[in-house]
Amino acid sequence: MSTHRKKDLYKILLGRLLSQDEGIDAEILTNSALNAIKFASLNRNFPIISSILLKASSDFQRNNSSLNQNVFGSHFKNPLGLAAGFDKNGVGAGLWNYFGFGFAELGTITWHAQKGNPKPRLFRIAKEKAALNRMGFNNEGAEEFLKTIKKQQIPMPGDRPCVLGINLGKSKITPLDKAHEDYSLSLRLLAPLSDYAVINVSSPNTPGLRSLQGTKQITKLIRTLKDVSKCPPLLIKIAPDLSNEAIDEIARVAIENGIDGIIAINTSLNRFNLKKLKIKTGNTLEQENGGLSGLPLQKRGLEVIRKLRSSTNNDFPLIGVGGISSARTAWERIAAGASLVQIYTGWIFEGPNLVPDILDGLILQMEKHGFRNIKEVIGSEEPWK
Ligand SMILES: Cc1cc2nc3c(=O)[nH]c(=O)nc-3n(C[C@H](O)[C@H](O)[C@H](O)COP(=O)(O)O)c2cc1C
Repeated sequence: MSTHRKKDLYKILLGRLLSQDEGIDAEILTNSALNAIKFASLNRNFPIISSILLKASSDFQRNNSSLNQNVFGSHFKNPLGLAAGFDKNGVGAGLWNYFGFGFAELGTITWHAQKGNPKPRLFRIAKEKAALNRMGFNNEGAEEFLKTIKKQQIPMPGDRPCVLGINLGKSKITPLDKAHEDYSLSLRLLAPLSDYAVINVSSPNTPGLRSLQGTKQITKLIRTLKDVSKCPPLLIKIAPDLSNEAIDEIARVAIENGIDGIIAINTSLNRFNLKKLKIKTGNTLEQENGGLSGLPLQKRGLEVIRKLRSSTNNDFPLIGVGGISSARTAWERIAAGASLVQIYTGWIFEGPNLVPDILDGLILQMEKHGFRNIKEVIGSEEPWK
């Protein structure tokens, strides 16, 4: 009952705004939310804030041991995470567990601070429950990121209420042939506070970045980062626009070089059947640069996880992301082979209740199928009942 009232509140406050592409700029809206989150995380022990957070956690968290699992050495209270790109500077690192997430991926962080691409650079496509972005890794840089995390006094890896991953990218000013040095500087600084780290070679908004998915480049990158002292579990995040052969090859090279997991997928340059759709700028999607996210990625996201499952051995950790917007789509991704799933665009459109909705849905499905733990669902290909 109270959950429904909350759902209505989010929809009443933001529903109209989010149901149209015009109106308040999407990035301004995101930054306003992040400012509130930053304040709450820094002050989460103050009585008023802590009582609000306690209330939030009783609405959003689901403490059910059937959702617990260990993946690449970390304990996950549930398999649902916040995808990279929402909390680029880690300002909410102390808070994501209150929203019910089992993990959150912070970043993308680059070694050099950078402003990103000219604005506007983030657009809602409400009718399609999608978004287009060409942010270009706007972030405060690895050194500032470290300070931001320290200020929040977050427990060290292993002792945290939710797992925190750190997603690393290449600074725009660093030439492609020096990419490994750039990623490695960030990792050396941030390794001690990362539960896991991600090599992001799949964002479409840094020129040439995706070419780092090539066999030679990725091998060099992984080997350099694996050599960093106290390197945490290392994952790679791949693009949806790779051919099936290229996905096979990346999986082979990644495993050969000791990668601990693969995240699929990042935003897409493909416009699917939406090429002629006009966005706020007055241009069609095929005329605009940037990566598409949300519902249009659902099918490809599922296909890539299934492909990766067959190209890797059966218990290789995969994280499924792209177009997940319901318990059913989360279930399908896990049943296809993902150990964990992440949400971004769906969470923005549906609101914070999407987290408990997904977790409740997963628990109920496990009961219907007679599974006792989420691990049993992974790769089972059991259909949604
Ligand atoms: C505004 C925006 C910014 C993003 N920034 C990043 C980023 O910095 N690093 C990254 O790896 N992925 C980034 N992503 C991609 C998401 O992490 C995710 O892979 C993608 O959006 C597909 O998931 P979704 O359909 O649930 O949004 C971004 C997505 C959006 C919408």
